[in-house]
Amino acid sequence: MKLPPYDNYPIIADDKIILREIATSDHGDLIEISFYDGVQAQTLEEAATMQSKIKNDYNDGNSIHWGIVDNVTNKIVGTCGYYRGLDKGEGELGCILLSQYKGKGYMTSAMLLAIDFGLNTIGLKRIWAITSQDNTGAIKLLKRLNFTKIADLEYNEVEYELQ
Ligand SMILES: CC(C)(COP(=O)(O)OP(=O)(O)OC[C@H]1O[C@@H](n2cnc3c(N)ncnc32)[C@H](O)[C@@H]1OP(=O)(O)O)[C@@H](O)C(=O)NCCC(=O)NCCS
Repeated sequence: MKLPPYDNYPIIADDKIILREIATSDHGDLIEISFYDGVQAQTLEEAATMQSKIKNDYNDGNSIHWGIVDNVTNKIVGTCGYYRGLDKGEGELGCILLSQYKGKGYMTSAMLLAIDFGLNTIGLKRIWAITSQDNTGAIKLLKRLNFTKIADLEYNEVEYELQ
């Protein structure tokens, strides 16, 4: 197992996107997609606070959070990462796109990079994701990535696991 933090924040890329550390200059773009403990940021200050809490989780070895950046435009289109479970050799994947970048394949590319990093660099034994049962976009994404449903949870949530 090779848990965060790392000497250098991991940067991984394919021909469409780069996954990189969130910079302070990104915070303004990320207000609508900054969440922490299920609460969504409403202001730049709240987004900055949440991003810095996630950075603290990374420094504590509990999370790795990437900004997803389009290779051509250099614009940030969303975020993804592992947010729980690393201490047990497992990873809960989370992800979110800015609304204008949905339906273009960004997250499928980002998840493939994050999964490869999780399995082959961190050394995770299991990767899972939790969403609500009516989140058709997320479920379609997870199935495309070869996740299957393993549990119905409380509050209409479902757990999917990478096979
Ligand atoms: C879940 C979420 C990331 C999925 O976004 P998405 O845009 O459907 O996923 P992708 O970026 O992988 O794009 C795939 C779609 O783009 C289409 N697409 C268009 N151009 C494409 C291209 N060049 N390459 C690949 N796919 C392309 C695909 O056909 C697919 O559409 P479809 O689902 O209608 O078949 C998004 O809905 C979201 O941010 N939701 C809110 C947060 C959330 O629910 N997170 C999940 C937690 S588990």
